[in-house]
Amino acid sequence: MTGRNMLLALDQGTTSTRAILFDAGLAPVAVAQRELPQHFPSPGWVEHDAEQILAHALEVMRQAAAAAQRPIAGIGITNQRETTVLWRRDTGQPVHRAIVWQDRRTADFCARLPAGMVTERTGLLPDPYFSAGKLAWLLDNVPGARADAEAGRLCFGTIDSFLLFRLTEGRVHATDATNACRTLLWNIHTGEWDEELLRLFAIPRTILPEVRDCAAEFGETTALGRPLPIRGMAGDQHAATLGQACFAPGMMKSTYGTGCFALLVTGDQPVMSRHRLLTTLAWQLGGKRAYALEGAIFNAGSTVQWLRDGLGIIASAAEATELAAQADPAQQVHLVPAFTGLGAPWWDAGARAAILGLTRGAGRAEICRAALEAVAFQTEDLLAAMRADTGGPITTIRVDGGMANSDWTMQQLADITGAIVDRPTVTETTALGAAWLAGLQAGLLPGPEEAPTHWRLERRFTPRSGTDAAARHAAWLDAVRRVRS
Ligand code: G3P
Repeated sequence: MTGRNMLLALDQGTTSTRAILFDAGLAPVAVAQRELPQHFPSPGWVEHDAEQILAHALEVMRQAAAAAQRPIAGIGITNQRETTVLWRRDTGQPVHRAIVWQDRRTADFCARLPAGMVTERTGLLPDPYFSAGKLAWLLDNVPGARADAEAGRLCFGTIDSFLLFRLTEGRVHATDATNACRTLLWNIHTGEWDEELLRLFAIPRTILPEVRDCAAEFGETTALGRPLPIRGMAGDQHAATLGQACFAPGMMKSTYGTGCFALLVTGDQPVMSRHRLLTTLAWQLGGKRAYALEGAIFNAGSTVQWLRDGLGIIASAAEATELAAQADPAQQVHLVPAFTGLGAPWWDAGARAAILGLTRGAGRAEICRAALEAVAFQTEDLLAAMRADTGGPITTIRVDGGMANSDWTMQQLADITGAIVDRPTVTETTALGAAWLAGLQAGLLPGPEEAPTHWRLERRFTPRSGTDAAARHAAWLDAVRRVRS
């Protein structure tokens, strides 16, 4: 045990901001959380108040840090990715609300982009999901923004970068490579901002943050009443990959939060997807990049939320699981949760959600079962694309996120995908990954090349035979076909 042996993780997500204090063994000690209000100024638009995000971040970090019995060796920041902030360099004030990753306002603009060149350099698709279109929109629509940007008076960043800038009182304008790789402006092969892409999106270089490793000395903050070093930074899905200790090629994690994001680590060379997945960074440490294939599904936990708040047929997420387990096996109901279009591997922004196969005998239980099964079917769609891209099987999925707590859903996931589903003891893997990065930089924890000390199995779900998985998945694909635009 060293003197400075606690670690503080800040997990700034789409719907909430939480801070978790971890002890030296990476066991969570204290948690503080604030829900984040969402702004929907027009259909398909989603915005966040970046000042409010900062205020919540400070509040939860102060609460969690108050439980520290020992000095804190470092802060790790992890965040919702792609969400775009533009702020004044002199005051740190945002010039507009942050444009959230789910926002579709740049769909027409993105449809006109040269897909091949963009994908080759970034591993991504020219989709409104990513930052560059949102940033171009801000420069073109906020009065005076473009002139101010060109004169060096503005800074661009994702949420990590904005928080770092403000926590260091404007001394540091930086981001990490995993956040940079989601902007559509960063070249995943060279590890640099890409001149051609900057020209394509008309982005002045002067507004861009410096890109660092995920474990680095990002700067010092005095916002918690004493000087504390910020030593780790990564986009939330990358942090979860580290929190799940998916350090070797072939290892995969799947996080079931608002959406579902599955990352398959592919090693030190990028595998360019031929099946509509994203090629992304897994992490960058010691100047070396590790890559992953990513499948992004836009609606997972949000579907259960909709059953509760939209349809009003359940009182809690736990009730969805209870009802699903009682559903009539003879009823073949499907729920395709394309509430905001379909993500990977379909990338169909115009698709809309539907419940199909209803008979008079179908009710709440069958709809709940369809909602939970959709998570398993969608994951299988991602896995099929991953198998096709890598030419190999996927034997094990490490799961986390709120829905991973549903035993019934995790068993379906194992049955439908034919893969072993492993749930760890700590399912707060995103915060865990951020704390791990800070601990690595502080010299308290071993790197990815050594056996991980922070991952323990809580429960394993093994695929059962006789579940008719192939036929059920084929029926799902038929339902997806019906909702495509
Ligand atoms: O790419 C978007 C993703 O990073 C958002 O994650 O957990 O905030 O919904 P989450």
